[in-house]
Amino acid sequence: MEQQNREDVLILAIETSCDETAASVVKNGREVLSNIIYTQIALHTKYGGVVPEIASRKHIEKINQVIEGALEEAGVALRDITAIAVTYGPGLVGALLVGVSEAKAISFATGIPLIGVHHISGHISANYIEYRELEPPFVCLVASGGHSHLVVVRDYGEYEIIGRTRDDAAGEAFDKVARAIGLGYPGGPKIDKLSKEGNPDAIPFPRAKVGENEYDFSFSGLKSAVLNYLNSCQMKGEEINQADVAASFQKAVIDVLVEHSLHAAKEYGFDKFAVAGGVASNTSLREAFEKECAERGITFYHPSPVYCTDNAAMIGAAGYYEYVKGVRHGYDLNAVPNLKL
Ligand code: KG4
Ligand code: ZN
Repeated sequence: MEQQNREDVLILAIETSCDETAASVVKNGREVLSNIIYTQIALHTKYGGVVPEIASRKHIEKINQVIEGALEEAGVALRDITAIAVTYGPGLVGALLVGVSEAKAISFATGIPLIGVHHISGHISANYIEYRELEPPFVCLVASGGHSHLVVVRDYGEYEIIGRTRDDAAGEAFDKVARAIGLGYPGGPKIDKLSKEGNPDAIPFPRAKVGENEYDFSFSGLKSAVLNYLNSCQMKGEEINQADVAASFQKAVIDVLVEHSLHAAKEYGFDKFAVAGGVASNTSLREAFEKECAERGITFYHPSPVYCTDNAAMIGAAGYYEYVKGVRHGYDLNAVPNLKL
């Protein structure tokens, strides 16, 4: 049994917004006592993407097991838990409902307070786990399968979105391009790996500029440029070098993410910059930020890959700061698929 002080805040966190069934116990917002993730990726791969009905059904099957695993690995019992934090949006409504219903049921049965957490706030808070000294304010790039946001983190749980994608999210573009070159789902890790064998300057794919807001992104034009390139090679009977396409596409995405993010850090006057979300685990993206931040005297924060992709520990970290602020939700907490940050 893990030794706890009476003042310690232990959050049991639950995350089921997409295709990971996850639970975690987090101590005082920064120390992960357990982090259990049941990933459904293999189930969805054959369909080329996440099938919402299958995701919900699998969450129902796995949720109790994952929560029990998280408590056991942490060496604690439910009576030791201070509060239950659960992702209530954004995400797939049926998937979110499984986590939210489970959290409400445990809260109702035990009297442990309930806290709803925003999924993106979770992704950003993954940085607090990895860097115990990190405190707001800072700029954070959130790049995942569903979101590409540039966020000024004013304080714990206080966010100002200064840029967002106008169309596809960065991860979505990775997944679509991967499918087009025959790599399968999920595309991000596959493109990341294959790119290492390709030339990032082989094909001059476009770096999109978006009208009025200099911090906004657009990736659908880039995706179309890759598809057009593949079509034209096919029509001319030219062989496609998959690795060159992957590396050139990836470079185009990274260039835009780096340029916008570091421009924002400079304009807003921050010397701390963080990344979050599945795409933030991309090795070339991390190298690029590492280099560019070092040149500008900016400290670069990047969670380990396991805390970049969906997990519950990040929800526990975000939930802790909500708890400290006094946020408590009632049993009318519902899943909100398009929840705003
Ligand atoms: O944050 P996440 O696990 O789920 C969402 O909240 O969307 O992000 C998943 C996305 C997928 O689009 C996946 O292809 C992408 O993150 N991803 C990557 C890498 N690992 C995951 N993209 C680029 N490089 C990677 N290594
Ligand atoms: Zn996510």
